[in-house]
Amino acid sequence: MASRPLHLGWFMNFTPGEWDHPLATGGSPWDGRFYVDMALALERACFDYIMIEDTLMVSEAYGDSAEATLKHALQVPKHDPAPLAALIAAATSRLGVVATMSTLAYPPFMLARLCSTLDHIAGGRFGWNIVTSGEDAAAQNFGLDKLPPREQRYEMADEYVDLVCRLFDSWNADAVVMDRTTATYADYRKVRPIHFEGKYFKCRGPLNTVRSPQGKPVFVQAGGSPRGRAFAARHADSIIATANGIDGMKQYRDDVRRYAASFGRNPDEIKVLFLVYPVLAETDEEAQAKRQRLVSSPNFIERALASTATVTDIDFSRYDLDQPLPRLTTNGEQGSLDKFAQWGSGKTLRQLAMERFGAPGSEVDFVGSPDTVAERMGNVMEAIGGDGFLISTPFQRTSRRFIVEVTEGLVPAMQRRGLMRTAYSGTTLREVLAEY
Ligand SMILES: Cc1cc2nc3c(=O)[nH]c(=O)nc-3n(C[C@H](O)[C@H](O)[C@H](O)COP(=O)(O)O)c2cc1C
Repeated sequence: MASRPLHLGWFMNFTPGEWDHPLATGGSPWDGRFYVDMALALERACFDYIMIEDTLMVSEAYGDSAEATLKHALQVPKHDPAPLAALIAAATSRLGVVATMSTLAYPPFMLARLCSTLDHIAGGRFGWNIVTSGEDAAAQNFGLDKLPPREQRYEMADEYVDLVCRLFDSWNADAVVMDRTTATYADYRKVRPIHFEGKYFKCRGPLNTVRSPQGKPVFVQAGGSPRGRAFAARHADSIIATANGIDGMKQYRDDVRRYAASFGRNPDEIKVLFLVYPVLAETDEEAQAKRQRLVSSPNFIERALASTATVTDIDFSRYDLDQPLPRLTTNGEQGSLDKFAQWGSGKTLRQLAMERFGAPGSEVDFVGSPDTVAERMGNVMEAIGGDGFLISTPFQRTSRRFIVEVTEGLVPAMQRRGLMRTAYSGTTLREVLAEY
C-alpha cells in the first residue's frame, strides 16, 4: 500500500473526442465547452492538473499520406491549446492548467508573454509543457525542410528556457506600485531589460506583462532519450513520462532524479507522472471485455500504428505485421518509439499494436473495477517510489462516460485508500504539486 497520496494529471488535447461510439456525442467540441465541463469534473476530483497536448502538423508518416490520420482523426483536427487553457482557467479555481507550446514555433518573447498572461488569468495555476516538436512535417510549417537533430533541438531549448526565465524575472514582484499620491503606476527601477544574447536567440526585454502570480509558470516536460531526460531534469517541476512496466518506470524516475541532483536540484521538487490508460467498469470481467472490444474493433491495428507513426515519424505500414520490428531510431520521439517497440521482447508488430495502450496481464495493466485499479495503482506507485499518474484515453478520444468513470469511480476508490487528496491545500499549481 502506497505510504503517501499520489499526484494525478489528465493528458488530453483539443480534438474531436469520441464521435462514433453508440454512447458518444463528440466530434465538434470547438466552442471548448465540453473540455471546460471536463476540467470542472477533474477539479471536483482534486486532480493536480489538466494537460493540453499539442502538435503542429497533419501527419503523413503512415503510408506516406494523410489518409489514415484524417480518417481516424489521429492528432488532427487539433485546435490551439492556449485559448482553451484560458477558458478552462477562467471557469475553474483550483485545478492546474497546463498547455503545450513548442520552442520550434514561438519566438521566446511571445511565449513568455503568453505564459505570463495565462498565469494571471489562472490566478497562478498555469503550466507550460515544453516541447521541441518531433516531426519534420511540423518543421516544414515553420520554414524549415527538416527537424533539427535532437541534440541540437535540446541545446536550443536549454537556451530558450534560460531566455524566457530571464524575461519572467524582468519585473520585480513589487514593480506595480499604483501610487495615487505620485500618480505612478509602476516603478521603472523595478523593471529591467535583459539584453540576452545567446548562440540561437537574442532578446532585449523587458517583458511587457506584470510579473505573474507564480513568477514563472510551472514547467512540465517529457524528455525520453538521455538528452531529453537531462533537459527535463534541469528545468521541469513535473515530468510526464511513458515507460514499460514497473522496472521501466522506476529506472526512468531514478534516472531523472539523478540528473536533477547532478544539476544541484532537490529531486523531490520534481513530480514524475506516468502515462496510463485505465479501462474501468463495475466488475473486472466487464472491464476486460471492454478492453477486448476496443482492441478487436475494426481498424484498431491501423489506428494504433498510424497514431504511433504521427509521433515517431516512422511509416509502420512498411513492416510485416507478423514479424518482430527491426531496431529503429528516429529524430522524432525516440522515447515514445522505445516504449511502443518493447525492444528485445520478440513481439510481432501486430502484438505491439495490440498493446499500444497497455499489455494484458502486465503489472501496470489498469483494467478492472475502480477498487481493483486503485489498489494496483497504489502497489505500482509503492514499487516505483512516486509520484503519480497521467490519465488518458486511447487515441485521445475523450468521452463524458470515461470522465465520470475516473472522477466518480476510480478517484473515490483511491481516496478511500488514502491514495488521493480529498481537498486542495495549495492555491497555485506549484503549491499543489508541492503538497506532497
Ligand atoms: C506523456 C507525454 C506527453 C507528451 N506531449 C507532447 C506534446 O503535447 N507535444 C509534443 O510535441 N510532444 C509531446 N511529447 C513528446 C516529448 O516532448 C518528447 O519529444 C518525447 O518524450 C521524446 O523525447 P526524446 O526525444 O527525448 O526521446 C509527449 C511525450 C509524453 C511521454
